[in-house]
Amino acid sequence: MINLKSWFILSILYVFLCTAALGSDAIESVLRRLDSKKAPSVVQESAAKGVLQRLLPTHLHSFEFKIVSKDLCGGRSCFRITNYKSSSRNSPEILIEGTTAVEITSGLHWYLKYTCGAHISWDKTGGVQLASVPKLGSLPLVEAEEVMIQRPVPWNYYQNVVTSSYSFVWWDWQRWEKEIDWMALQGINLPLAFTGQEAIWQKVFLDYNMTTRDLNDFFGGPAFLAWARMGNLHAWGGPLSQNWLNIQLALQKQILSRMIELGMTPVLPSFSGNVPAALKKIFPSANITRLGDWRGRGRSKKNWREVIRHDMEHLQLTEDMTLDRKVWRTRIRVEG
Ligand SMILES: *[C@@H]1O[C@H](CO)[C@@H](O)[C@H](O)[C@H]1NC(C)=O
Ligand SMILES: *[C@@H]1O[C@H](CO)[C@@H](O)[C@H](O)[C@H]1NC(C)=O
Repeated sequence: MINLKSWFILSILYVFLCTAALGSDAIESVLRRLDSKKAPSVVQESAAKGVLQRLLPTHLHSFEFKIVSKDLCGGRSCFRITNYKSSSRNSPEILIEGTTAVEITSGLHWYLKYTCGAHISWDKTGGVQLASVPKLGSLPLVEAEEVMIQRPVPWNYYQNVVTSSYSFVWWDWQRWEKEIDWMALQGINLPLAFTGQEAIWQKVFLDYNMTTRDLNDFFGGPAFLAWARMGNLHAWGGPLSQNWLNIQLALQKQILSRMIELGMTPVLPSFSGNVPAALKKIFPSANITRLGDWRGRGRSKKNWREVIRHDMEHLQLTEDMTLDRKVWRTRIRVEG
């Protein structure tokens, strides 16, 4: 894992140095450009309502959400929570304003946490615990008329490029929607959106007259996408079926639409310089460097079944032993 770790540290350092070099004027101009591309207020307000509806459907009408300008927050991103002033029955109880839908939903989380004692987290860290939220019509008022919280830094980034292979390749839209709701409630506004990129690379490389066979020798299997994307491996655990590629692309479109509706800025992949070996056949004069084998393994011609069979033989495991966690745990060693 050494390669991967140094790669991460270098990329983090790179982003850090670039940001430092940019200076605050440049950051302001990036922010202004991103703000000008945000989804319309009605779209964001309704996306924030969608998060509330999935989280706490009973209280959908207790909250009023409104997108406001940064001018109301001293030029920064913020949320503002006030008691809704109306005497009529069935009117909202709490008004949450925010400069984007993410600010509104993080304001909602703040309100539920600090005034209602609720807990909103991943399933593994407590999940969603809303039993303490008072019933409709008796939500607690915020003290001092108004709570206004400014975002201390412009961006809250989330996710790790290898998690795409560890976890997200197994996710459907329902699971993604849940995670994006979680991001919105935590105030994340700069999430990585790496799904479906092989479908785009496939289109690009086919335009360069490569064949599906050439690409089968290039794309890694679902669980190894991150390593294939970084150029550590070619074809390992592949090939990817057309059906899988199509589904991932459709999923990415849903993911991006939702992130944008919530006023987030999704982080899309760029070209890293990793190309299929077949490109050299089509453009013989191109200056393409073939890197050495990664961890001595290089490209695999095997499919995952063969790889697993090989590893099991190596670890002296039989299929029945793999069903017993205690047995196989003693045989494997975790690389780190
Ligand atoms: C792909 O092949 C077609 C037909 O031979 C040719 O016209 C086109 O220029 C080729 N594309 C590239 C990128 O080489
Ligand atoms: C090809 O790339 C290598 C590595 O960057 C470089 O040293 C070499 O000069 C390049 N050759 C040509 C012909 O551009």
